Amino acid sequence: MTIKLKYFIVNWKMFGHFSDYKIVNRINDFCKKSQKLFKTKKIVLCVPNTLIYYFNNKITSKYISLGAQNCHHSKKNGPFTGSVNASMLQNSGAEFIILGHSENRSEGDNNKLIKQKIISSLDKKLHVILCIGETLNQKRNKKTFSIIKNQLIKSLDKKMNPKKIFIAYEPIWSIGTNKVPKIKDLIEIIKFVKKEYKKIIKVKLNPTVLYGGSVNHKNISLFSSISEIDGFLIGGASQSSKKFIDIIKNYYK
Ligand code: PGA
Repeated sequence: MTIKLKYFIVNWKMFGHFSDYKIVNRINDFCKKSQKLFKTKKIVLCVPNTLIYYFNNKITSKYISLGAQNCHHSKKNGPFTGSVNASMLQNSGAEFIILGHSENRSEGDNNKLIKQKIISSLDKKLHVILCIGETLNQKRNKKTFSIIKNQLIKSLDKKMNPKKIFIAYEPIWSIGTNKVPKIKDLIEIIKFVKKEYKKIIKVKLNPTVLYGGSVNHKNISLFSSISEIDGFLIGGASQSSKKFIDIIKNYYK
């Protein structure tokens, strides 16, 4: 039986400088010290594009990979001032990419554009972390399931490689707010995401589905009982190596 990996994925957003390689060093050390634990888990550092190449030379543990946080949809280079495509990110050392984050959706990334970005990222063999989730209003109006279903249907299709696509359920009302969903609701939503994904991509294998939104070293123990969750996308709490490492330690306590 193959053990399903748990993913602890860092989303640094627009934070981080070269001097933060110290954070990478501490995570390297943690991985080395906890070799046994790491057989079943993986860390992915989705950092600003300016740091990918630099950090790639700092990582010393095979349990850590690098990722980007968005890209231009064009596969080819072109006159797109200020943009970076999946090919450039892969060339810098990225193996993963976050797409469809609500912070990018709020700046104009719609499902159609996100689908194009997924296609060009898969073309460059990147693992895609597709973010989906509802606003507080949509939740109050009981639209959670229809919103996430629509996001999945419009951004995925059966031609895509299922092994390369992860889904991160990130309710917008929980990002950076210290609010997290009720465990019962979360289980139901994660199961729903897996079911819908399998229908769209036409696979039997369960996809990797992450939870993201205000995950920290205190509330992580709430989630450890939910076997359906395959990992976490961690924003604010991942900018400190201590807080991030404590999340992993407390998950396994
Ligand atoms: P947060 O962000 O952990 O700070 O809520 C999560 C995210 O935006 O991916």
